[in-house]
Amino acid sequence: MRLGIISALHEEQQGLVEAMQGASRLIHGMRDYTQGRLFGIDAVCVLSRIGKVAAATTATMLVEKFGVTHILFTGVAGAGDARVAVGDIVVADSLVQYDMDASPLFPKFEVPLTGLSHFPSDVHISNVVADAAHQFLAHDFEESIDDKERAVFRLERPRVHRGLIGSGDRFVSCGVHMSQLNESLSGLLAVEMEGAAVAQVCFELGVPFAVIRTISDNANEDAATDFMRFVKSVAARYAFHIVRRYCQT
Ligand code: ADE
Repeated sequence: MRLGIISALHEEQQGLVEAMQGASRLIHGMRDYTQGRLFGIDAVCVLSRIGKVAAATTATMLVEKFGVTHILFTGVAGAGDARVAVGDIVVADSLVQYDMDASPLFPKFEVPLTGLSHFPSDVHISNVVADAAHQFLAHDFEESIDDKERAVFRLERPRVHRGLIGSGDRFVSCGVHMSQLNESLSGLLAVEMEGAAVAQVCFELGVPFAVIRTISDNANEDAATDFMRFVKSVAARYAFHIVRRYCQT
């Protein structure tokens, strides 16, 4: 078994490469792959960079060139629902490419010739990573996020949600756009720019995967500022502890 860990940005994976034992690096296709043992398991870490194509090529490479058997995507996302707050964690049960629209040839959101608009994640990996997220909130959150950070981001009682994540090649920074997405996709919890592309690749290659996202912003007019602040401060600590607990399960 070999786990592939993908994030879009350095800050979403910070600390993991440093924690690897016997690490070796390989640069391929403008990506930096680090292989080694991560908390006792064989793993490959890579930054996909931003967007669906970047994520799809990276996931493909992880499987075809690095022989990973399963994939975990970790990063941040914008809130796609009023019940989801900054600092909450969303584990995808399924993912949709919300900017896919080949209608009238195919139904809106359906990826042509796959018969699917919603790509399901692996139930077992998603359960284990959701459990790791609960463990992080219960045991690591207090000591890893200080009072000032909690006040800045209004992190009161962060929660773990399970449900639909939407991906598109657009940073959502408009409340009206977010409401429209929420109205057209029932149960949408979060928006980001990579997860559903990884989901399609994993579906096509028969590789189990999970996507976990910490909410950095509300996908509204403040999203860019909120996102930058969150990514530069607490995002790495969420990802590090959750992945550590996932590997140690
Ligand atoms: N990732 C984090 N916040 C996001 C947003 N508002 N839109 C798209 N991707 C995001």
